[in-house]
Amino acid sequence: MSGLFITLEGPEGAGKTTNREFLAERLRTAGHEVLLTREPGGTPLAERIRELLLAPSDEPMATDTELLLMFAARAQHLDQVIRPALAAGKVVLCDRFTDATYAYQGGGRGVSEARIAVLEDFVQGTLRPDLTLVFDLPVDVGLARAAARGRLDRFEQEGPAFFEAVRQTYLRRAALNPQRYRIIDAGQPLVDVQRQLERLLPELLERQP
Ligand code: TMP
Repeated sequence: MSGLFITLEGPEGAGKTTNREFLAERLRTAGHEVLLTREPGGTPLAERIRELLLAPSDEPMATDTELLLMFAARAQHLDQVIRPALAAGKVVLCDRFTDATYAYQGGGRGVSEARIAVLEDFVQGTLRPDLTLVFDLPVDVGLARAAARGRLDRFEQEGPAFFEAVRQTYLRRAALNPQRYRIIDAGQPLVDVQRQLERLLPELLERQP
């Protein structure tokens, strides 16, 4: 594979959606072909799985069902979108990927890392992101931003302890592998967050094959 695989991670309300547009624009301006996508989702079928995952429901979703649906959507997304784009030499900018599974299903729901790692290898083979930006912010700030957006999805309905575990899992994974992760302080005003991203750009572009 010859492209560059960049993932954006972080809790709810971290501003990933706004900032992914900003990053994509900057990378395009620098002359790169950028594919902007997201998980769960990114293909019509995977977006249907996303709806199943996010819709609040009277029937509780078993933890393993949630875990397997995340990876089912990912398998489809990899096959239809991510692998072909990387093979074509594009920069793939993906809003969430398997780090979110470690953070939400692992940290949040208590699934063991080992169990997630089995599925990661099964679905991805050796494919891992080249670079992961973690948009970090205090849990209460993120939850307040998410609540202000309106109706809460199945994950957003979780409490502060769940999101604290999500946050700590991201930070722990980033600390264990500083080569791959960059922490963005997403608690700052948007213009300052974008300044942090600007500073990262030379490094991103340098990684481009
Ligand atoms: P989004 O709203 O940021 O697009 O993400 C959808 C939700 O899905 C978000 O609450 C995080 C959750 N999620 C997981 O629990 N595990 C995963 O592997 C992924 C990709 C997302």
